[in-house]
Amino acid sequence: MEALSNSAPLDERFYLDADAFFSAHAGTALTYDDLTLATQFSDVLPRDTHLDTMLSETLHLTLPIISSDMDTVTESGMAIAMALNGGLGLIHYNMTERQQLSEVSRVKYHVHGLIQDPIIAAPGQSIGDVLEMIENKTFAFSTFPVVDEKKTLLGLLPGHTVKPRYASRKVSDAMTPRALLQTIHESELGPDPIACADRFFNEHIGIHKLLVVNDADQLRGLFTLSDVERITQERTALAKPARDADFRLLCGAAVSAPRDAFGNLDRDRIVNHVGALVERGVDAVAVSTAHGYSRGVGETVRMIRDAFPHLAIIAGNVTSGAGVEYLADAGANAIKIGQGPGSICTTRVVAGVGIPQMTALYVASRSAAKKGVKIIADGGISKSGDVVKALTLADAVICGGVLAGCPEAPGQIMEINGKLYKQYRGMGSLAAMKAGSAARYGHAAKDSQRKVAAEGVEALKEVSASLDTILNQLAGGVQSGLGYLGATTLAELRSKARYARVTNAGQKESATHDIIEVKTSK
Ligand code: XMP
Repeated sequence: MEALSNSAPLDERFYLDADAFFSAHAGTALTYDDLTLATQFSDVLPRDTHLDTMLSETLHLTLPIISSDMDTVTESGMAIAMALNGGLGLIHYNMTERQQLSEVSRVKYHVHGLIQDPIIAAPGQSIGDVLEMIENKTFAFSTFPVVDEKKTLLGLLPGHTVKPRYASRKVSDAMTPRALLQTIHESELGPDPIACADRFFNEHIGIHKLLVVNDADQLRGLFTLSDVERITQERTALAKPARDADFRLLCGAAVSAPRDAFGNLDRDRIVNHVGALVERGVDAVAVSTAHGYSRGVGETVRMIRDAFPHLAIIAGNVTSGAGVEYLADAGANAIKIGQGPGSICTTRVVAGVGIPQMTALYVASRSAAKKGVKIIADGGISKSGDVVKALTLADAVICGGVLAGCPEAPGQIMEINGKLYKQYRGMGSLAAMKAGSAARYGHAAKDSQRKVAAEGVEALKEVSASLDTILNQLAGGVQSGLGYLGATTLAELRSKARYARVTNAGQKESATHDIIEVKTSK
């Protein structure tokens, strides 16, 4: 490192900018806990900061957090909740292509608060049948739209008629007939369906259900007053959702680099798959592999870029400047940085390779700036402070483990010794590779039937709070970080970041210590 002049203020000598700091530690790979950020003069309140980020010309997030394309983290439920909070979900690819397409459609056609497949009753059923259905399925409601077999709306069965006293009567006798129902055409919902439903309920005293129909008067969905009230109240607390130009939620999907029987990249399959995703409205595809600086990944990215010139492409993973440049030249917009930092990863243990995150991000960020592409810090995030540190060099972060315990993550909840858990497994674990992700780790699908070196483990996460709560905590921490550095935006955070190395003793001091904790901050 070039020595700073003695007349330079002490701050500048001890708290170094990224170039000076990482150059001074060249040859040593550092991660989040190895360093800390110096505070700066600030007149910025955390609540006045903005976390917007652009990952390509079209991919704009209001929260720089992406949920990982892992089969225990992101399917449509997680992707919907991520986009509603301003982030992005990457639907994993350990499922058939057809299933992945329908997961993407669920996100793209999700209307917040609109129950798109409401439980219905048939006109010929008896009230007794309906009572039985409520009991068997433990429904907490008793009002049902009544439709014929073509889904044409015939009426609404009001809850006050669903009583044992009327058990033998027909639904068609008890329902409020179509002619007396207030409905709304789906085209009238406009860009803000919740506001539209809210107005409807204001204007129609005593009505608790709003039925949505199409041109053929078929039932398209249902709003309930209680859902709309809950969402309207929550709105003030939530970030601005991440939407496309047609006001639909953003959604990403992972794709692999499959090979045909001769070991060549299966161009047709890749291009057809991505084409079908684009038709469903996908906003970004992620070519997700463990080793992105490899011919197969570069060629896959180039094939997708040639076929879809305007599609946002995320690719990875790499940890070197050359890797970033290779994928940028192939046509990627945003490059995933991370080899082995993940909470379920064993790549560094098994293969002896990988670079701790902050050094990898620094090296990658300089090549990314040169090539005009974005980088995403993938893996190893366990607290909001890690996100702040990552964002001093990266444009967004990908989280797996911190989101895997949320109710929005796929998978069953299990109880062990009175505690609730969800499964969380590495995509390089044997079980996940058997389910489809072998190519991501450079193995053929059949290899995963025998003993190959797994690069991930199967684990459990304690069930956590909802995604909204977890993201609020992460975003709140990031906003505090910006406030401490006097930064209003992520671009200012990057330019104001000054780093200092932390020793083991310093790490100990950074966490709570010498106390008996009675209430955790989790
Ligand atoms: P976190 O720390 O958020 O990491 O749980 C999630 C990221 O880890 C990567 N990943 C793996 N890496 N073996 C690996 O070496 C695996 O089995 C594995 N599965 C996921 C991936 O980048 C993810 O986003």
